[in-house]
Amino acid sequence: MTIETPRPRILSGMQPSNDSLTLGNYIGALTQWVALQDSYDTLYMMADLHALTVNPEPESLRARTRRTLAQYLAGGVDPKRSTLFVQSHVPQHAELAWILSCQTGFGEAGRMTQFKDKSAKQGTEGTTVGLFTYPVLMAADILLYNAALVPVGEDQRQHLELTRNLAERMNTRFGQDTFTVPEGHIVKSIAKVYDLQEPTQKMSKSTTGKGTLWLLDEPKAAAKKIKSAVTDAGTEIRYDPAEKPGVSNLLTIYSVFSGKSVAELETEYAGKQYGHLKVDLAEVVAEFLTEFQSKVNVYLDDPAQLDAILAEGAAKAQVIAQETVERVYDRVGLLAPRHGA
Ligand code: TYM
Repeated sequence: MTIETPRPRILSGMQPSNDSLTLGNYIGALTQWVALQDSYDTLYMMADLHALTVNPEPESLRARTRRTLAQYLAGGVDPKRSTLFVQSHVPQHAELAWILSCQTGFGEAGRMTQFKDKSAKQGTEGTTVGLFTYPVLMAADILLYNAALVPVGEDQRQHLELTRNLAERMNTRFGQDTFTVPEGHIVKSIAKVYDLQEPTQKMSKSTTGKGTLWLLDEPKAAAKKIKSAVTDAGTEIRYDPAEKPGVSNLLTIYSVFSGKSVAELETEYAGKQYGHLKVDLAEVVAEFLTEFQSKVNVYLDDPAQLDAILAEGAAKAQVIAQETVERVYDRVGLLAPRHGA
């Protein structure tokens, strides 16, 4: 007889803030989500409440939420093995976020570098309270599900640290089993994909130039972006992020798509020129995108199927989330409502 032990849980998500995800989202997060779905109880969401912080057009947010799901599926997330849901379909996220915000220091939230960067760009008047409390909502996302592991890219490390601090603080105050303290799953070699034009900057959704490769870029246009990627002085193809950030970034990307290690690629390209590497990588990426996009289109052609996946996911997520909210409401001293009294 085999005894079934519950698998540890994973929670992660992406903001549906653009029509397309980026190559950074794919390499830094989605490949990990897919790899972990056999050994963990995985929940992956579309963080639509977080996406409201950029004040999107209502119709485009709705469309992007479905498009993001289609891209998760095309990337290999399997709805039979993973629970897929929309953050706003589970109202407990906002409920727990309020409780956590009452435990988060103003200064603590103000030290988040993503907040500091974005608010510096937008100015005090242009910065919303939602942007300030963004990491608290993210902590709620994770703690609601007692997640043991959170697969994300490097840019989320500080938000995860805040989540861990909040969990520990609440456990000390309200009982050690109030929350599971989550670990990050940040795979160093792929946790930060760099901009193709500015290879010392993270590839991001908020840039518009040729440096960001979108998963829904026309494959030929994507190939062109790779061929015109900024490389470094010298000619040698060697992984050296400090001295050769451009080439190192291309090697990282190529390694993911070819399944070869960076060391193998260095050997393969010894004595060759940057141009050879770019041409070969451009071809591999264009092939990948062609196949990926044809899968995305099949999913997008069947919105009823997408909605069914989301309905099933929300129902599963709500059961777990409700248990947590009830436990936490009780621990912090909220009076339970008497149903039917
Ligand atoms: P978001 O939507 O900005 O990014 C989604 C995921 O992609 C990773 N990522 C990258 N990885 C490597 N290189 C890059 N250039 C790159 N750009 C993005 C991100 O690290 C992330 O893993 N706050 C989150 C969404 C979120 C979330 C959560 C994540 C909301 N609640 C709970 C985990 C758990 C965000 O804005 O990700």
